[in-house]
This record gives sequence, C-alpha cells and structure tokens, in this order.
Amino acid sequence: MTKELTITYTHYSSIEELTELEQRLYHAAVSARENAYAPYSEFLVGCALLLENGEIIVGNNQENAAYPSGLCAERTAIYWTSANFPNEKILKLFVIGSPKNPSKTAALAPPCGACRQSILEYESKQESAIEIYFASNSGEVCKTSSIRELLPFSFDRSFL
Ligand code: THU
Repeated sequence: MTKELTITYTHYSSIEELTELEQRLYHAAVSARENAYAPYSEFLVGCALLLENGEIIVGNNQENAAYPSGLCAERTAIYWTSANFPNEKILKLFVIGSPKNPSKTAALAPPCGACRQSILEYESKQESAIEIYFASNSGEVCKTSSIRELLPFSFDRSFL
C-alpha cells in the first residue's frame, strides 16, 4: 500500500507580512549573516533564535580549511544557546542563507539535514515545538510550526 505524507507551511512573499517580532528576528538573522566566516563556500548564513525569556541569540556559519570541521549557522546558534541557557525554551528559529556575491540569485534555503536533526533534538529536549522560518535575500519567507514538518519519519530519543 502506498501512503502519502503532506507537510504544512506558510509562505510570505515579503517581510512586511511578518509580525513586528518576526521582523526583529529576521533583521537579527540578516546582521548575523554579515559575520559569517565562509571563505570556502562564500555562502553566508545567519540564524536568530527567540528564547522564551525574550532574548534573541544569533549564530552564523563557521567554516574550516578541513571542511567537515566547520559548522552551520543554525547549530552554532543552538549549541551556544544550550550551553549558556540550558533551561530556556527556544520558541522560534529564523535562518537566512545566500551567496556572498549579491548578483547570484538566491533561492529560499531551508536548514540542511544535519541541522534538522539537531533542531529536532532540542525540540525533544524542551518538549515543545520550535517555529522555523527560512528566508531568501529577496524577502520571501517560509514558516513551519515545527522541525517535524521538514523532517518527517524522524529518528528521536523515543526509539532509544
Ligand atoms: N550552511 C548553513 O550554515 N546552514 C545550513 O542549513 C546549510 C548550509 C552553511 C554550511 C557551509 O558553511 C555553507 O553553508 C555552504 O554549505
């Protein structure tokens, strides 16, 4: 029997359609992207997290000459948050990634597979969903209510 899985997301064609708080998070991710260290891929990514205490934590991608030693923006932000605010829930995660060269058209870049798995870990740890937003540099945004929408058939702690 063939079955079908559907995912649900919201699409915004411009930043103005977001709430004021969501726009703050977007701007925090955009400025975090400026500090990305990505000399090898020249693909700059910024990420901003909204914590339950109202703080906004940012991260960006950090590359390395030994390529696999680098880290994505989302995990830089999430791991720092868990290290410094271990009991604070993450409510929202906003990520924006696009080539350093602005003339290269940027598509909406969602979190990579490894970041999806990491985000799932912290949803499981905090026992509540994290809203995920990803934006292109043209101002388009997609939002899901949880990383589970982007990672169906996920493997989590419940199997162990
Ligand atoms: N990257 C991220 O920071 N987040 C993702 O979800 C996808 C990829 C980074 C990793 C690498 O520094 C560059 O983008 C190109 O893959």
